[in-house]
Amino acid sequence: MYTKLNELLANPFHSILLSQTVKGAEVDFTKVMVKPFLSKNETLYQFTYTKGKQVTHENMGFDDMLNKVGELLENVFVQCQIYSQDNDYHITHFKNYKLRTQPATKKVETAAHNRKKQYVITEDEGADFLIELGVINKDGTISKAKYDKFRQINRYLEFIADLKDEFPKDRPVRVVDFGCGKSYLTFALYYYITQKLGLSAIVHGLDLKKDVVEHCEALARRLGYDGLTFACGDIKEYSSDLAPDMVISLHACDTATDESFFKGIGWGSKIILAVPCCQHELNPQLKGEQNKGILRYGIIRERLATLITDTSRALLLEAVGYKTDMAEFIDMEHTPKNILIRCIRKGKGNKDALNEYYSLKEQYGGFSQTLENRLKDNGYIK
Ligand SMILES: C[S@@+](CC[C@H](N)C(=O)[O-])C[C@H]1O[C@@H](n2cnc3c(N)ncnc32)[C@H](O)[C@@H]1O
Repeated sequence: MYTKLNELLANPFHSILLSQTVKGAEVDFTKVMVKPFLSKNETLYQFTYTKGKQVTHENMGFDDMLNKVGELLENVFVQCQIYSQDNDYHITHFKNYKLRTQPATKKVETAAHNRKKQYVITEDEGADFLIELGVINKDGTISKAKYDKFRQINRYLEFIADLKDEFPKDRPVRVVDFGCGKSYLTFALYYYITQKLGLSAIVHGLDLKKDVVEHCEALARRLGYDGLTFACGDIKEYSSDLAPDMVISLHACDTATDESFFKGIGWGSKIILAVPCCQHELNPQLKGEQNKGILRYGIIRERLATLITDTSRALLLEAVGYKTDMAEFIDMEHTPKNILIRCIRKGKGNKDALNEYYSLKEQYGGFSQTLENRLKDNGYIK
C-alpha cells in the first residue's frame, strides 16, 4: 500500500483529506488535511488535525508524510481523498483497498511543489552499481521491489554526507565495512566518496560468508571500482596495516558489533558507525530485585536488553574519547533494527560516561559485556 500511495503522490498534489474514523480508533481528531508548502526551497507537508473547533498542526518531509498517511489510512481512517494535478483519487481502506479515479478538481500550486525528494543518488543519474544490483531499471526508473532499498541507500548516504568534513582530503579515505553482507551500502559508500565527493577511497568489506564475498568482489572488479575490495573473515581476527578512518558495521550480529567498535577504538579511527542487531548477550544476564516487573515479560525484556546493550556501547565509546550519538537509521516499518550509533573521535575520555555505564551495569545486576571486557583487558578503561 505504501508503494501504491507513493505512486499516487508522485505527481504534485493540492491536498490530501483523510476522514471517517474506523470504529474504536483511539485518536483525538476526526479529520486530517495534508498540504504541501515551500520552506527554504524544500517542500514540506503540513498535517492539520481537526476535532470540532480544535486544530493542531505538524510538519514533515516527504518520506515521513508518506508513512504517516499510510499509517493513518491503515489504522485510523476509512476514506482518503487525494487531489492531485492529474486526477482526484478516492481510496477506501476498510478491510479491502479500493481506488477510484476522477478528473482533477483542484488546481495545484506548483511553486509549493518541488515535490521530488532530493536524494543523494537520484534514480536518473545512471549509477552503475544500482543498475547492477537491480535497484534501478535500465530505463532509469526505480525497481518497485527494491524501492525500500533505494530509500535505505539514500538515507545511509545522508548520514555519511553529514560526516564528510571529517574525511582526509590529502590521501584516500580508508574505510572498513564489517559484516558487509551483500554490500549494497558498501558499494553506495564507495560510489558516494569517489563520484560525488571526488575523493579517492580504499574501502574494504569483510564478511564470514564466502559466496557473498566472492560475488561482491566480482562485481567490484566488473564495475572497475579499483579501491573497493572484499575478503572473507571474522571481524575479531581482522588486522590492517593502515588504520581505517571510518569503521562501519551495519546489522552485524550480536557481539560482532562490539568487536567492530573495539577494532575502531584500537585503530583510533576518526569515525565509527554501527547499526547493531540481535543483541542477545545481556538478555539472560539482566536481574535486580527492583527490575523484576520490567523483566517479567519476554518481549519487553528483549527490547530492554537491546536498549541497555546499545546504551552501554555508546557510554563506553564516550568513555574512551568518542563523541557519540544515536539516530533513527530507517523507519520502523522496514526493520526494528534501526538505531544508528554514530561516534566521532575527540580524543579526551569521559569519566562521567564511564561512571554512568558502571551504574547502569550495577542497576541490572552486574552483567558481563563484550566491549567492556575487551576495553578492560587491553587497558583502555579500569
Ligand atoms: C544482516 S547482514 C547485514 C549486511 C549489511 N551490512 C547490511 O546492512 O545490509 C549481517 C552480516 O554480518 C556478517 N557477520 C556476522 N558476524 C560476523 C563476524 N564476526 N565477522 C564477519 N562478518 C560477520 C554475516 O555473515 C552477515 O552477512
